[in-house]
Amino acid sequence: MSESKEIQARFELEVYPKRDITLVRGRNARVWDSDGREYIDCAGGHGTISVGYCNEAVTAAVHAQMQTLTGCSGTFYNDRKAELLELLLSIAPANLTRAFLCNSGAESIEAALKFARLTAGKTDFVCAVRGFHGRTFGALSATFEPKYREGLSPLVPGFSHVPFNNAAKLASAITDQTAAVLLEVVQGEGGVNIGSREYFETVSQLCRERGVLLIIDEVQTGFGRTGKMFACEHFGIEPDILCVAKGIAAGLPMGATLCSDKITVAVGKHGSTFGGNPVMCAAAIATIQHLVSHNLALSAREKGAAIVARLRAAELEVVREVRQLGLMIGIELKTKAQPFLIELMSRGILALPAGPNVIRLLPPLTIPDKDLEAAADALVFTLGRPQPQRPSAD
Ligand SMILES: Cc1ncc(COP(=O)(O)O)c(C=O)c1O
Repeated sequence: MSESKEIQARFELEVYPKRDITLVRGRNARVWDSDGREYIDCAGGHGTISVGYCNEAVTAAVHAQMQTLTGCSGTFYNDRKAELLELLLSIAPANLTRAFLCNSGAESIEAALKFARLTAGKTDFVCAVRGFHGRTFGALSATFEPKYREGLSPLVPGFSHVPFNNAAKLASAITDQTAAVLLEVVQGEGGVNIGSREYFETVSQLCRERGVLLIIDEVQTGFGRTGKMFACEHFGIEPDILCVAKGIAAGLPMGATLCSDKITVAVGKHGSTFGGNPVMCAAAIATIQHLVSHNLALSAREKGAAIVARLRAAELEVVREVRQLGLMIGIELKTKAQPFLIELMSRGILALPAGPNVIRLLPPLTIPDKDLEAAADALVFTLGRPQPQRPSAD
């Protein structure tokens, strides 16, 4: 065990399942461990490394801001924050006109839940089976998976879960007390499940007719990941509230809750000391500018299609289905994913699970074609072999 692994294992509260390597360096889609081993990172910091590790433009922007103003609470106006808000809303669905800046996905969801209750004057939320929205109490109450919720009751009251992609079930769960419907466009943690256009059209119409707000969680799907700047655009969804985080600042902690004119919140009802920190704003501005100027949403479409074509052509016996939107890829297996993830890591490829049977790929959108091809070769080779009998460690 390397020294830093020993120290961390001794002092960190063990909330994360661990892989047995210590990452020390990264550049674009590659990372290196403390023994100097190189990996192609298709886990991408759980989808946060949108424009690659140590992207030069982001690094320069952060460096410059670090020498200018390192903090500024929400009580004061700030030039970087203004610049980011204008840029963020210029790329968001057109009906979204204001934003609250925070530090993570769960925080963006917490804000959305509070804004919805305050605006609607109602208490309840309808969410989806297999939906994942984060680990804080509000976000966890919206999250379906029982293993994340067990032992933590009482959660926030007023949340119900209906099957995803089933508009009739969703309609029957809406009551007079429903403030909002909260959905992902593509369920990430839940297995890379893609909602249909018909589903989102019916849900949007339902929300309008029943006077219910529509909150869309694009924490994982935002910023080009699915081949459009926001996954909403694939299906013409106009959310009342849009939650974003992960890819917004190339791995640095930032989130945002974007709102339409319908949303009203009185001064003092919400806030975050670090939210909209100028250094994070500078990182987000540089990230978004890089995404736009390099048309990385288009790259995500092309690269995602290429890797999926390769996987499908291999006709792998162990694969039940490949689901993909841009560079958000779920390979559902007929068996457990974990041993394959360990095997892939030993071949220099990092990938993620999404539930017990799905291998999930969320590489940086800047991943070079040769890295993607190498990852596809390793996947085809590993999935084509008899199931590895290694212990699981994720
Ligand atoms: C769709 C979705 N919403 C919310 C979250 C929570 O984000 P965070 O871990 O930044 O709190 C995640 C994290 O994986 C997510 O995928």
